[in-house]
Order: sequence, then structure tokens, then C-alpha cells
Amino acid sequence: QEAEIGLIGLGVMGSNLALNIAEKGHRIAVFNRTHARTEAFAASAGSLRDMVVPCASIEELAAAIQPPRPVIIMVQAGKPVDEQIALLRGVLMNGDIVIDAGNANFRDTVRRFSELEGSGLTFIGMGVSGGEEGARHGPSIMVGGTRESYARVEKILTDISAKYEGEPCAAWLGTGGAGHFVKTIHNGIEYADMQMIAEIYGILRDGLGMPAKEIGAVFSGWNRGRLNSYLIEITAEVLAADDPRTGQPMVDIILDRAGQKGTGKWSVIEAQTLGVSATAIEAAVSARILSSIKTEREAAERVYGRGGVSAFTGDREAVLADLELALLAGKIAAYAQGFAVMDAASKEFGWNLPLPTIAKIWRAGCIIRSQFLGAIADAFAGGTVSNLLMTPAFIGMMKEAHPSLRRIVARASESGLPAPALSSALAYFDLYRQGRGTSNLIQAQRDFFGAHGFERIDAAGAHHGPWGSGAG
Ligand code: 6PG
Repeated sequence: QEAEIGLIGLGVMGSNLALNIAEKGHRIAVFNRTHARTEAFAASAGSLRDMVVPCASIEELAAAIQPPRPVIIMVQAGKPVDEQIALLRGVLMNGDIVIDAGNANFRDTVRRFSELEGSGLTFIGMGVSGGEEGARHGPSIMVGGTRESYARVEKILTDISAKYEGEPCAAWLGTGGAGHFVKTIHNGIEYADMQMIAEIYGILRDGLGMPAKEIGAVFSGWNRGRLNSYLIEITAEVLAADDPRTGQPMVDIILDRAGQKGTGKWSVIEAQTLGVSATAIEAAVSARILSSIKTEREAAERVYGRGGVSAFTGDREAVLADLELALLAGKIAAYAQGFAVMDAASKEFGWNLPLPTIAKIWRAGCIIRSQFLGAIADAFAGGTVSNLLMTPAFIGMMKEAHPSLRRIVARASESGLPAPALSSALAYFDLYRQGRGTSNLIQAQRDFFGAHGFERIDAAGAHHGPWGSGAG
């Protein structure tokens, strides 16, 4: 019997996605460059073995699938994807669909999409979130491509996706690079969320002197409140775990140097290119960069000393309540930024991105899944919204929470404890709500040294200041 779909690349994500597809009743042909891995995969498929067609070559893969063939590529982003597409072009036929399910840069997706245009093949750039578990049991799936090509794989994708109260967390979001763009911003928000959680952890650890287990209990409590989310849940679990080797809390043994594969950085680059402020995401990427220069940081600590506990004495319960609200306020600002970037991209690239749908398909399956996203979906459901911060439900939440964010950022700063994403979120909020800012001075300076001209508050047109020809 022929397969309904194919998959290339049997790494952890590819294998799990293939098993998920097979389990939902869709026979799948699989191929991996190293054939031993294909064999090992087939051998490990267990009861799903009948639903899997292991292929020794890409020709065999193409022959095993019923036309028109959808083929998922799940290999490392970048050049390997182009290599696989080139190989597929040799074996696929008119009407077949190439689906890149990796974390591609959306600009590559746009290029690949147009390269395949006119070749008879169509291309789908598909963001898949949820890590290994998600891929196996239900990820959140963000699709970009033509509506027609999505219609042809919709059944499979909605079958394998996570469900939120029965609704599939998979959707067609727009043409070309729309899906991968949205996945990139998902990751940018993920970076900001993780960084803000880490900053709060730092305050609890170094400002309040709490051991890992106690901090874990705090997060676990918060997970039952408004911060309820997958990332808070796993944070609590991580903090509760012990290192089997030493018996110490696992988190205390892990080196404080964070990796990154690029999606966070791309979010920031795209935000800047679109002219949208995404300070919390920027701060999160920068914090990972600084985390990587461990030896230099150690040397600097020897020179300057490190931040301490000074400002976090006093009523512990009050501090904990402030920390919870500070995290909520920071989160609101970070999500407001991420959605503002998507809104701008939607206009720039003519995607017409459905912001409420994006929030909905992020409610389950993906790494940033949370109830909070349900509130975001509602906030955007009404139509044109300039910024999440201007929607009634979030105005209420932010009014309640920003004083706590302010107190926490102030105390962290006095204690010398870094809170870059939280402070950036606060600065963004304060700039955003400042009707009369300070850029009048920037304009005056620009006019002074470069005769750039400025607008006046009391008259239309371009004007110059009384500073003569300027300093050059
Ligand atoms: C997800 C994750 C996943 C992965 C990224 C981010 O949505 O399932 O975002 O795609 O974790 O690669 O990873 P880095 O932190 O390594 O950049």
C-alpha cells in the first residue's frame, strides 16, 4: 500500500513527527541520508511499523508515496534544506508539495518558495513548535504557502497537531514565508519569556538567598495562577530535580552559558528592519550572548564584585507577590512587542496574518503555550488593534501589574542584580505611554549637526533651529 506522505531527516524531531503521523493513521515513507538510521527508526516503530515505509533512497521515497506527493523535510536549517530540495526536484513531479518543517529563516523560505514556483512543485514553509514531545504527540503548526497546497495537507496536519479544547493548533497563516516568520517570532517571545523567568529566578536565588527547591515551590505556586504556562511548569520541575551524580539540585550544577541557534536573533533583526520596538526580545538575545563569555564575566566579577542581597530584605511575602506581578507585566510587554512585529510584517509582506488565530494555535502544543494566549486571542478578536497594551483586558492587567514591575526593577538595580529583559520591558512601557517624550531634543541635535530639520508643535512643515549652519 502506498504512503500518503513522505519525510526526510530522521533526527529526533523528524522521527517523532513521523511516528505522530503514522499513529494518526497516515502511512508515511521515510528516508535518512544515513540508511542505518532509517533502519533503526523502522525497527523502533513498534506497533506503528506497518504504517512506516523505510526507503533506502530518495527515488524509493518518491516511488512509495501516492501522487500528488507531500514530502516533509526535517533537517538542519540552512544549506541542508537547499540540498534536499535540489534532490527532491529530481524525483518529484507536477503537483507535489515540498514542506520544510525546520526552523528556517523566513527569508530563505520566501526564496525557496519563488525558486520552486513555475517548476510544477509547490513549497510550504511550516513552523513546528513543541520540542521532541510536541513533535511526537501534538505540536503547534504554523503554515505558510499557498492556500491550495495547505488544503491538500490540512487533514494530516490538523490530525497530528496539539488540540486546545478540541480545536487543532495548526493553521494556514499566509503565503510564502508567513509560517516561518510566525515561528521565528514565537521563538523570540520564547527567548523573552525564558529570560524574564531566569531573571526572577536570579532575584530569588541571589536577592532573597533561596535554595533551588524553595524557588521551585514558588514557581509551582505561580503556575496555579495567572502565570500558568508550560514554561513556568517546567521551570518548577527543573528546580525540583536533583543531579543523580552529586545529589545537588541539578540547576546548581549546570554551567550558566546558554546556547542559541538563531531564531531569537532573527526576531530582533526583523523587528528592527520593520521599525518595530522589541526590547524584551533584544534584551533576551543579548543576555544569552553575555552568558556565553563566562571567563570574561568571571574576570569582571573579580574586578567589580558582584550584586548582592541588599535591597531584597523585608517582607518576603510582599516581595514574592511583587515578583509574580512583575513577571506578568514583563510578559505582557514582551507579547505586545512580538505581536506588534507580526502585525508590521503582515502589512509589509502582504500576508494578512490572522493574529487571533496565531494566539489560538499557540494555546497548546508549543513552547510558549499558556492560558494567557487565550486572553490575547480574545483581545485581537475585535479587529484592528494598534498594540496589545491598548486592549481593554490588558489595560486592566497592566495597570495592576506595572507598579510591581517598577519596584522589582528598581530593587534589582539597587542590588546590582541584572534584570535586562524585565527592565527593557518596563522602559518600553514607560516610553510607550509617554505622550510628550524627549525626542524633541534628538531632533534638535540632528538639526544642529546635520541640518535634518524638525517639525514644530505649533506650525506645519519642516523647520530649522537658530543654531546657524551647525557644527558639521
Ligand atoms: C520550539 C522551540 C524549538 C527550539 C528552538 C529554539 O518551539 O519547539 O523553539 O524550535 O527550542 O531551536 O532554540 P535555541 O534556544 O537553541 O535557539
